[in-house]
Amino acid sequence: MFLSRLIYIFTIFIVEIVVAKNGSSQHFPENFLFGVSSSAYQIEGGWDSDGKGPSIWDEFTHLHPEKIVDRQNGDVGANSYEYYLDDVEAVKSLNMNFYRFSISWTRILPTGDLTQVNEKGIEYYNKIINKLIEYKIEPMVTMYHFDLPAHLQLLGGFANSAIVQYFEEYANLLFNRFGDRVKYWITINEAAEFCVKGYGGKIHAPGINAHGKGEYLCVHNALKSHAVAYHLYKREYYNQYKGQVGIALDSSFFYSDSNDTVVVNREMQFTLGWIAHPIFSSDGDYPAVMIDRIANHSKAEGRLVSRLPTFSNHWKRTIQGTSDFFGLNYYTSRYIRESLEPIGENPSVARDRGNERFTKPEWIKGASDWLYSVPKGLGDLLRWIKAEYNNPEVIITENGWSDDDRLEDDSRVTYFHDHLEQVLDVILNNGCNVKAFSVWSLVDNFEWSQGYTEKFGMFFVNMSSPRKERIPKKSAYFMEELIKKRSIPGI
Ligand code: BGC
Repeated sequence: MFLSRLIYIFTIFIVEIVVAKNGSSQHFPENFLFGVSSSAYQIEGGWDSDGKGPSIWDEFTHLHPEKIVDRQNGDVGANSYEYYLDDVEAVKSLNMNFYRFSISWTRILPTGDLTQVNEKGIEYYNKIINKLIEYKIEPMVTMYHFDLPAHLQLLGGFANSAIVQYFEEYANLLFNRFGDRVKYWITINEAAEFCVKGYGGKIHAPGINAHGKGEYLCVHNALKSHAVAYHLYKREYYNQYKGQVGIALDSSFFYSDSNDTVVVNREMQFTLGWIAHPIFSSDGDYPAVMIDRIANHSKAEGRLVSRLPTFSNHWKRTIQGTSDFFGLNYYTSRYIRESLEPIGENPSVARDRGNERFTKPEWIKGASDWLYSVPKGLGDLLRWIKAEYNNPEVIITENGWSDDDRLEDDSRVTYFHDHLEQVLDVILNNGCNVKAFSVWSLVDNFEWSQGYTEKFGMFFVNMSSPRKERIPKKSAYFMEELIKKRSIPGI
């Protein structure tokens, strides 16, 4: 009897040690918010339903199915256009505080401009927003997540500064029709990503491939578009609606084996600083290292002006300070070293940066070629942002992991566990002002050039059934428990 009692106590003791090691007894601050993210083209389907106009992703996938590994597209996908209630129920089942989704520009403005306003499109988003509010889930709306109106691409899209005015008019319509209920706005998702892959490269829509020029023009106009939308809100809507407007930036953290801080700083500035410095730094404008290097390279190429466009003082001032929070999408990190040979295409942002990127053999790899789990990179990145931009309020707008098709998604659970540990650590031990964390993604969805071959969802979608049922994976239960306890469960 005594012996079995002793064994029992010893077992409990061991279990507690294990939980203390894996889980965390520390809690997220009371006002910390948890959410989950998605984007219109990746989940909605209904690509031409009820008056929606074509976006550049509709055209890209229809005209060039060979550019998508499984030759698929977002025509139907998870069909959130019909089954949005399933999405909202899924968000509710996890007790999430907010749902971040994006608005398809052409569902509302079929040609991208005010020629025609599609009330059916407005109605669709009203239904989502109203249901979220009914469930006490905060809607967080991304205004632009890669799906530019095809009609505006005819004018050059983000390579033409005319986009700034069209974006402002689109923003005005959204603030006007949804601003009474939407208090969190994200103007543009990952400008560097769609500009590098879609304007500098050809693997994302619109596939311009004007490397070394297109990506710089695109980011330039994206920054201006963001800034005018921000000012519009502050001028015309803030007093009445009291919402927040921000932008979502993607970045890795970069390490050097030889502790080469010059090279690390250059890589950080060319990646995150490219977009963040003009908005969040105390001096505004692009980072000096970008301005100097691209000017030098351009000169050596015989050009009269730099391939990096310049901001007038008016624009520097207009862009600076235009974000109520720092939206951060973090997935992975890299080691870097200065390249001894010219790297990347001639010219290109990769060549202008001049560094080689590599990974470590011990890093665990997801189903995406580029995705390695480096949780410490998130902690280091958040500390870097705190130091570089004077501790802004950060909303982690995306963090996620790809695998093949499985409900027992243990690798995703481990990924969230390890990354949230870093988030908790920087809040409690480094005083980083991180206010919220959002999972990418709610349901399995169209992963751009990878089609449906990589799964990022916490909910599996039965793609072969017309009803597209959503089924929670193990990671959904993990997040549900985490949110309930407000601390990280052991795994
Ligand atoms: C994008 C998402 C994408 C995810 C995974 C982010 O760059 O915002 O649209 O699905 O990464 O690749």
